[in-house]
Formats: sequence, C-alpha cells, structure tokens
Amino acid sequence: MPSDHATSFDFVRTLVRKHSGIVLGAEKDYLIQARLQTLSRKEGFDSINQLLDQTQALLDQLDEAPQNGLRQKVVEAMTTNETSFFRDRHPFDCLRNVVLPDLLASRAAERSLHIWSAACSTGQEPFSIALLLREHFPELHDWQVQIIASDLSSECLDRARLGRFTQMEVSRGLPTPILAKFFSRQGLDWVIQDDVRQMIDFRRLNLLDPDLALPQMDVVFLRNVLIYFDKETCQQILGSIRRVLRSDGFLFLGGAETTLFLDDAFERVPLSQAGCYRLKHCYTDRSN
Ligand SMILES: C[S@@+](CC[C@H](N)C(=O)[O-])C[C@H]1O[C@@H](n2cnc3c(N)ncnc32)[C@H](O)[C@@H]1O
Repeated sequence: MPSDHATSFDFVRTLVRKHSGIVLGAEKDYLIQARLQTLSRKEGFDSINQLLDQTQALLDQLDEAPQNGLRQKVVEAMTTNETSFFRDRHPFDCLRNVVLPDLLASRAAERSLHIWSAACSTGQEPFSIALLLREHFPELHDWQVQIIASDLSSECLDRARLGRFTQMEVSRGLPTPILAKFFSRQGLDWVIQDDVRQMIDFRRLNLLDPDLALPQMDVVFLRNVLIYFDKETCQQILGSIRRVLRSDGFLFLGGAETTLFLDDAFERVPLSQAGCYRLKHCYTDRSN
C-alpha cells in the first residue's frame, strides 16, 4: 500500500462529499478501498497493487479534469444502492390506504398525479409504486399519472430502465401473485411488463442540485438517502423538496430518517412506521 494511501482516501472523501453530499467517515475506509478496487479493475488496471500505486496519479488526473467521466465514476462507485420491492411495507400500505384515497378526492377535478422517487437506485421503489397503482387503483386509468424516478448513479438507472430483476431480487418483497401477473421469465431473470415499465420516467438527478427541474409533486419518496448526508446537506435537500412538493402533498422518508430538528415546515403524519410527512400549514389550511 503506498504511504500516501490515507491522503488518497481523503481526496476521495472530499470529492464524493462535494459532488454527492455523501459523507464517508474514517470507518468507511474499507468501503472506499473495496469499491476503488472494483472500479479500477473495470477501468483496466491490472492489479490491486497497480491500483494503489496509481491512485494518487488517478486522483490528480481527476482533479485536473473535473469534467471527465472518471470523476463521476469514482463518485458513483461510493453510493450504496441497497433496495428492495415494497421496502419496509408500511409506507406502501400508507400510500394505498391513506395517501392515494386522499389524492383521488383532492385531485378529482384535475385528474392528474405526479409522484417522484427521488433516490430510486435500481428501480424497485418506483416499480413498487407503479405496481400498486396498477393493481389497486384501476380508476386512475384515464388520469394523467407521472412517476419520475431519479438517482445520481447512471449505472443504477441503466439497470432500472431495463425492468429486469434476478430471482433473488424479486424474492425480496414482491408478492408472488404480483410477480406472476406483471413479470415474465427471461432466462434466469424476471422482466416487468412494458406497460408498467413505461409508466416511469427515469432521470439522472443530483439531489444537491439547487435547481431541480421538476413539476410540482403530489408524493415524494425520499427514502434511505438522507442517512448518508450531514445535517446541512439534509436541510438543503429538504428545502428543495419543499419547493417541489405541492402544499397538500406527501413526503415519505426511510425508517431511520426524520425531518425533526432539520426542517420545521414538515410534520409527521401520525401513522406508525409509515415515515410519512406533510407540510404543517396543510393541516392549518384544512381547519380554516
Ligand atoms: C440506499 S439507496 C435507497 C433506494 C431506495 N430509495 C430505497 O429506499 O430502497 C440510496 C440511493 O441514493 C442515491 N444517492 C446518493 N446520493 C445522491 C444524490 N446526491 N443525488 C441523488 N441520488 C443520490 C444512491 O445512488 C442510491 O441509489
């Protein structure tokens, strides 16, 4: 290992924080090393030693040419993309039993719905939303329903766009009747029906971008991503969410995430374990 290895890791930490918001503490050195190794192999380095010897040179090169694809690859390699269908179940129960019935009533005149899965990884989250709509809300068939799914990772988005999942992936959270009804077998994988796949508009978006070009949203899923950011970044991102969320819209966070002590404008919908939030004034408006 080169003597300046720790410096190289610091460089990666700084680069990743600047371009994604992700904080990689010292305890994540094993992760930085493992992922840089995988990336370097993919990029044509011969061995781990060669990777370690060339890391600093590689990073210098990255620093000098911030627009090159390598910088993006290093940043994306440090993202954690763990996900599953209908992850944690409760948010999806809440979407089905509370949020969509509410929106069906409040949007009855305009007959349109905009839903955003804001850190969609390989697509299981937006596909769970699309499948839930398709299975339980046939009355939406003549509404204009837009599901936007975004992530920082181009590799994840490329996979998500295919709508193709392994046996292991579909066995994590996807009910068997839904699998049988909406997927077909292709080799060892399962592929989602085209009409469900086409319900989703996949886009590469960085949540750090202060000017997210998005329509006003009725529902935002921002699940299991704030955990990677520091307080200031969480506040900045929740501020962006506030700007795109309609005043009576719904925000879902992950089980370990909260708006508490980060953004006073939100309050939790009192439904256990759903991780559902609304803007405070939405209740005030309704009581007036
Ligand atoms: C753990 S996954 C969560 C996936 C899904 N929301 C879920 O709960 O199952 C976190 C995702 O956030 C994405 N991410 C991290 N930083 C991001 C950023 N600055 N902008 C957009 N996406 C980001 C990662 O690429 C990763 O796919």
